[in-house]
Parts: sequence; C-alpha cells; structure tokens
Amino acid sequence: MIVNTELEQKGNLFPTKILHFKKDVDTFYFTAENDVVLQLRILRDSVLRFRYTTTGTFENDFSYAITKYASTGYNHLEIEEDEEKYTITTSKLICHIAKVNMRVKLYDAKDNTLINEDELGFHWEESYEFGGNVVKMSKTVNERESYFGLGDKPDHLNLKGKRFQNWVTDSYAYGKSTDPIYKAIPFYTGLHHNKAYGIFFDNTFRSYFDFAHERRNVTSFWAQGGEMNYYFIYGPQMQDVVENYTDLTGKPHQLPPLWALGFHQCKWSYYPESDVKEITSKFRELKIPCDAIYLDIDYMDGFRCFTWNKEHFPDPKRMVKELGDDGFKVVAIIDPGIKIDKEYSVFKEALDKDYFCKRADGPYMKGKVWPGECYFPDFTKPEVRDWWSGLFKELIEDVGIQGVWNDMNEPAVMEVPNKTFPDDVRHDYDGNPCSHRKAHNVYGMQMARATYQGLKKFNYPKRPFVITRAAYSGTQRYTSTWTGDNVATWEHLWIANVQAQRMAMSGFSFVGSDIGGFAEQPQGELFTRWVQLGIFHPFCRVHSSGDHGDQEPWAFDEDVTDVVRKFIELRYQLLPYLYTAFWNLVDHGTPLLKSLVMFDQEDHQTHYRTDEFIFGDKILVCPIQEPNAKGRRMYIPRGKWYNFWTDELVEGGKEKWVDAEIDSMPIFVKEGAVIPKFPVQQYVDEKQIDEVTLDIYYKEGKERSQLFDDAHDGYDYTKGRYSLRTFKLTGKSNELILQQHKEGKYITTYESFKLKIHGLPFEVKEIQLDNVIVPFSDMKMDETGAMFVDKNFSEIHIIG
Ligand code: NOJ
Repeated sequence: MIVNTELEQKGNLFPTKILHFKKDVDTFYFTAENDVVLQLRILRDSVLRFRYTTTGTFENDFSYAITKYASTGYNHLEIEEDEEKYTITTSKLICHIAKVNMRVKLYDAKDNTLINEDELGFHWEESYEFGGNVVKMSKTVNERESYFGLGDKPDHLNLKGKRFQNWVTDSYAYGKSTDPIYKAIPFYTGLHHNKAYGIFFDNTFRSYFDFAHERRNVTSFWAQGGEMNYYFIYGPQMQDVVENYTDLTGKPHQLPPLWALGFHQCKWSYYPESDVKEITSKFRELKIPCDAIYLDIDYMDGFRCFTWNKEHFPDPKRMVKELGDDGFKVVAIIDPGIKIDKEYSVFKEALDKDYFCKRADGPYMKGKVWPGECYFPDFTKPEVRDWWSGLFKELIEDVGIQGVWNDMNEPAVMEVPNKTFPDDVRHDYDGNPCSHRKAHNVYGMQMARATYQGLKKFNYPKRPFVITRAAYSGTQRYTSTWTGDNVATWEHLWIANVQAQRMAMSGFSFVGSDIGGFAEQPQGELFTRWVQLGIFHPFCRVHSSGDHGDQEPWAFDEDVTDVVRKFIELRYQLLPYLYTAFWNLVDHGTPLLKSLVMFDQEDHQTHYRTDEFIFGDKILVCPIQEPNAKGRRMYIPRGKWYNFWTDELVEGGKEKWVDAEIDSMPIFVKEGAVIPKFPVQQYVDEKQIDEVTLDIYYKEGKERSQLFDDAHDGYDYTKGRYSLRTFKLTGKSNELILQQHKEGKYITTYESFKLKIHGLPFEVKEIQLDNVIVPFSDMKMDETGAMFVDKNFSEIHIIG
C-alpha cells in the first residue's frame, strides 16, 4: 500500500494523487494512484454526498436512513480543472478537490466564505481484528465554530470540545456524561461566521465524533467499518440544514392522530384491569385531561409478546372498548425478545420460518430479557418485518389497541457485559448479509418500522401511533420516541430539556421524556416543574418505574394536582397550534422545537444557551430547573415578546429576571403572533369544537401565522381535505389589520373565531369586517372584550 509520506501518522493511510476523473449524470468519480476513489454526488444545490473506497470498488449502495426520493440528484453540473484542483459549482456551493491528496474545501457560492475544509480529510486504518477499514475523516475547526445535533446526547447543547460515540445502548439511569445512550444519529450541524452546514455520516457501525476535543483545531469522525460516506448539507440557516437533512432521511410519513398529542399516563405497570380503570376514572373525576393509558410488560402472559395475562385482563377487548368510551386510547408495549417456549405460537412460527438471529457459527442468538431466555427476530430481513407486522392483527384490529410502544430494541440483553448481542451475530440487512457490528444501530429502527407497518395496516383508516426507544437516522419516518430511563432529579429535568431540543435539531421532533423521572421518586415540586416543561414537548407522557411510589397528577398534594391540571389544560388549549407545527414538520421537515441558536444564529449570545427554546415558531419557553425558585434569569431572544401571563411587552437581546412561582413558568409570545386555541377538553374530540380562539399579539409591523385543521385522524387530509388558514397581521400606530387566506377542502367544525387582542396601543374607534364598517355596538363581544367573527372573514381592520 502506498502511503502519503508527507502526511503519515501512525497506522493511518491516505489517498494519493488524483490520476483522473469521470462524470456520470449527477456523479463524479475521482481516482487516486493508490486505488482510492472519491464518488461525489450532487443531490441538491446545497447537498453533496462524499463517498470513498480504498479498493477501487464500492459496496452495494444501500441505506436504511436515506429515503428513495432523496437518492436521485441534480443535473446541472459544472466542473473546472486547473493544475491544483477540480472545482464543482452549484448555485449554493463551490467545492474544491485538491489533486495532490483529494482534500476538499467547500465555499458559499454567493460570497466565497470558506464553510468547511478537510484537515487530513479522508484516511483509514486497516482493521486486523475484523477485516475492512476503520474509516476516518478530519476537518479543520473554524474560528469560533460551534457544533450541535447528534440525537439524544444528554450533554450541553453545544458539542464543542467533546467526543461522542454512536452505539445504541440500554442505559438505565444514565447521567449527563453517559455516552453512548439509546440512539445513534450521526448528524451534526456546524456554525461559524453566521453560516451553518450539516454533516450526516451515514455509517451504521460504531462511530465516533470528536468536536475539537483531542486537537483544538480539528473535528473528526470515524467508524469501525463500512465506508466513509457522508452528506454535506449547506444552510446557511440552521433550520435549512435540519430541513434538508430531514428531506434526505425522511419526514414523518403522516400526521399523528391528534389524540397522540394529548397527555399520556404510563407506569410500569398498571394492572390488573381494575387498577387501570381506577387511574382513568380518577383523571375524569378530577377533570385532568388525558388521552392515553399505557400497558407495560405485565399485561402479557409471562412477558410473551402478543399474549395477555388472562387473570389480570380477562377480556381485553371489552376493557379497551370501555376505556375508549371514556376517551382513553390504550397503548401496549411490545419488546423484541421472544420467549423460548415450544408451546408459544409466536416462538414456534418464527423458529419454523427461520426468522431468528443466529450466531456466526450457527446457533441461535440466545439472550435474557424479561421473559427469561429469548431468541430475537432479525428485523433487518424484509420477510421478518412482514411477518412481525402481521402479528399485530389481533391486538389492533380485534382488541382495539391504538398505539404500540417498542422498548428494549437496542436490542437490550440482560446479564451480559456489553448489554446487547455479541458482534458475530448475523443479519440479513435487506439482502446485504453482515454481522451485528453493522446491524446493531439499525436493529431497533427496523423493529419500529415493522411495528409501524402493522399498525398502519390494522388500524386503517385511522393513523398509526408507535413509540420507540432505540433509533438510527430516519426512524422519525415511522415513530415517536422518548428519552429512556431517566431519573427523578433536577439535573434530569435539565437533561430532558436539552435532549428534546437536540433531537428536534437532529430531525427527530416527536420526542418527550418520562415526565417526573423513571427511576426514583420526585417531590411534588419537581414533578410540577417537569410537567410544565413536558407540556411543551411534542410527546407528553408521565412514566415511572413504579418501584418508588406513584406518579399520577394526584399522587402528591392538592396544590400539585391543581397546577398540573392547569398546565395540562394549557396543552389541550394549544393543540391546534402544535398540530399546525406538526403539519409543517410533515410537510417541510420544520422542527417542532427550536433552540435559541436555531431561532437566531446571528445573535452569538444564543450559541451557548441551553434552557430556553421556541415551541413551534412563536412561543418562547424556559423551564424552571431548580427547587424553591420564585422565577429565574433567562435570555430573551432579539425582538419583542409578550409575557404570556401578564401581557407585558419586553424587548429581547438580553437576559432578564422572570417571575415564576410554582403555578407559573416563563412563557413568552412573539409579537405579531396569532395563537389558535381550542377550548379545554378532557380528551381530544370529547366535544365538537364550535369555536377557536385566536390570541392576537399586536405588533407594529408584519407577522404571519398559520392554523391547520382536519378530521384529526385518518388520511383524508392527504387528499386535500384539510383546512389551512394563513393569517397576515399588519400593525400600525393606530391600526391593526388581520388578513386571512384559506386553503384546502376540509370544512372545519368550528364556525367562528373568538379574537382576543393583546397589547393594542390605541383605543378602538371603528372596526371594518371585510370592508364593511361594523358599529361597535353591533360587534358580538364577551365581557373581556373578545370579539366573535365568522371563520371565513377575509380581512379585519381595527382602527384607533
Ligand atoms: C425499560 C423501559 O425503558 C421502561 O420505560 C419500561 O417501563 C421498562 N423497560 C419495562 O418494560
């Protein structure tokens, strides 16, 4: 093997001089003297794929992460060549590839700013232990560069100065510095000079990312096998980077049913049936809204998936129906481990059909989980996924379960040091047979995918709802997720906040934490503060191990119950706002939560903030994360914001003390926003919605807001039966104009809007509704001065 002597470092091999290049439709191939080939595919004007081989030939091009639609490219390619380099130009990017060593430099095509540059660039080490290469990439760190993303890492939001690993791992009671934990999302965003780019390293082997940790001026990533295969995604806005990454790896395949955005109650475990009903009745009795109740592993017969413990649940279908009549949807857990039991039909069938994973030398992969010794389906085989999805027929179609919770799918194995399968276990990998080293990080994803297929089919025409613990990039297409076994501590409240934001900027927005903490028992105060944060997370579920006491909203004291009810009610009021944000996620890949750095990357104050975030695009939230607090200091981003509770208008761009006794938390609304609200309901669609409130926050200037609505379940919205209303607000010193633009064929159940105007700086003298003057006395108003208008208005003109 020829080694580039100038660059030699111990054990590392490098590409040598480029000898020639070849061009295909959307792809270039650059071949070096030592058989290294760089395949460069231009996917979009701002998305480039870099793929390297050291042997002259590439592996079969297969990815679980990349959607089919995203793998075809762009075809206006321009390449130039001079003595030193090749130059490829798109409308957004300029890419240089040095002839001497294949190193890459990427520039903004508009102003020539250097965005990203190879340090050593691609290099590799041969792996004697397993064969193949450890593939590596190193990049130069820019002045004041920050790094974000990487899935569920519980550490500081800004990853600079740290090193991380991607290997999905069952991590009971993990801490702030535990790494890796449950998810592998090898995608990060770099930000410098107000410009953001992303790198998605689509390699499922155990991988590492070092963000200026080992060497201050170098960021690198490497994997213990496979190819160096990464996508470079240019912004320059962080939100564009995440949207483009989501375009590559997929948006959620459909909207969730609206009930899935309601409040969920869970515990390990509610059983027997009478206990489940006691809990659900209590919610209704205390008038605390709730949409879903969970069955953890104890509903099964000896932890055998797809069975019922008939002593505790004698007639599941009746129970599910009765709970349904009371507005509760039942979500049941399903794990991957199948109990070794010759009398158990799921086991027998999988054994007969040869669906279980095997060790390299032939025996089945045997491991202990809840049921004792188990075998594990190979979810990386299409046939196995089909079979698995078919197993849901009874549970979904007959019993009426509406959601499935996939747990332990890292896959977790008990009583073994590495907590999972040994490396030699074989997988089909959709016809690309491989060892567990390659399939480990996608195992849980493929299980969730198969589960999703089952729900999609058997819950039809209703939408599927799945929740998974393990994930790889792309899992967001099929399922929601939670952050695993956290602990009832104030530090974990901080972690939950950071993790949800980080997941959203890693393309996986439908996320929440075990509210209150899974392990240990929170005090009422911690529980309350956690609910306050949790209602602003897309997935909102209380869950606990049950080992240390109860965690229902009434398990503490009456004050806790009252505050918790107040915040859950707020969640239900904000459902149309969250649903609209979800529609934007499904439609454009827009993250549901935005860290301040994503909201305003040009304001450098935001680069190291962790606590504040934007829920949707108009509501600023900052949880209280300490005991005995009467408020906190927080950073208000630039612009003007209304205090949600007092309507006080504050100027951002600075830190500010915000009062927040236990029954409150810092919430602000962006000026100019129109926030839609539903009336409080005990569960989604308890009542027909006859009226939607629009909270209108005056602004001198313009602002755009939206309201999406549809049947709240089913697929009609995909055929145009949705209602999308765009509100354009224009405020002047003595005028406020609200224009409405309507799209879609869905006729909403509500007939009118109730308009509540906040912060109007003048006294109303006249109102014009669709160009007709409405005398003040004729205007329908309530005692607070809120006005009622027909939902189909085109323009409201309020004049002072
Ligand atoms: C581990 C999961 O993380 C937890 O949420 C669940 O309650 C237990 N397994 C039992 O199923």
